Amino acid sequence: MTDRYAVIGHPIAHSQSPRIHAAFAQATAQDLSYVAIEAPLDGFAATVQAFRAGGGRGVNVTLPFKLQACQLANDPSEAARLAGAANALKFEGERIVADNFDGIGLVNDIQRNLGHALRGRRVLLLGAGGATRGALLPIAQQGPATLAVANRTADKAHGLRTDFAAHVTLNSGGYADLAGEAFDVVINATSAGLSGEALPLPDGLFAPGALAYDMVYGKGLTPFLRQARAAGVSALADGVGMLVEQAAEAFAWWRGVRPDTRDVIARLSVPLV
Ligand code: ATR
Repeated sequence: MTDRYAVIGHPIAHSQSPRIHAAFAQATAQDLSYVAIEAPLDGFAATVQAFRAGGGRGVNVTLPFKLQACQLANDPSEAARLAGAANALKFEGERIVADNFDGIGLVNDIQRNLGHALRGRRVLLLGAGGATRGALLPIAQQGPATLAVANRTADKAHGLRTDFAAHVTLNSGGYADLAGEAFDVVINATSAGLSGEALPLPDGLFAPGALAYDMVYGKGLTPFLRQARAAGVSALADGVGMLVEQAAEAFAWWRGVRPDTRDVIARLSVPLV
């Protein structure tokens, strides 16, 4: 019988997840279906339960429901608990198991696909929202020399330092605190670019050979990537690889088979111009 999976969000029309999982299923000869479901803003839990009652095996969860997904789970992973958010659920009998693969997807994309090691490097995350929360633990587990978070609202960055203190040694501050610092990997996890806004990044922020990574995907050269390029950075990446890698993690978690990601990333990539 065909096993059923879905991605649930609001809005959901532009989700690439059905395309990605269909490609994985074909490549690994897995008999499954994967659809996009738009849940009403006040109806996430009911949508999950209805899908499950209809024989669903698991779901991906996207904005704005990742926090609720974590709360709905009986059994959230450490990554999901620390992020306070889940992007994948698995139905096991009566239980709902939750995980968050966004961070490991980012790490795998940076290290395996883009060839930039995180161990021993100076890593900076811009933004202190859910996207940064999900990324902190997986990045810290790679052993960077330093890990810093800068945010427009510095107190939110300090809050992350406190929340993650048991697991991650974090430097935190506002953008002005970055003056005089240089980083090998700079990741934009803010939503500033979506409204076309540039971030107040000081000169000299990017170390020679640095990678500039924007978690946004499919938008070409974002304001952040443009800033990085203007600062002389040649290693630029958007979040398409992160998207496909987190999908691969969920697929492996559900199906026990790891799909190859390279072709799917190539197919979904848009030029950074
Ligand atoms: P997500 O879950 O995608 O991380 P979020 O929790 O709403 O979304 O967080 C958005 C992040 O983008 C925050 O760090 C926010 O900064 P504030 O905490 O100061 O609000 C950041 N952000 C959004 N617009 C921005 C802008 N124009 N300039 C700088 N940072 C911005």
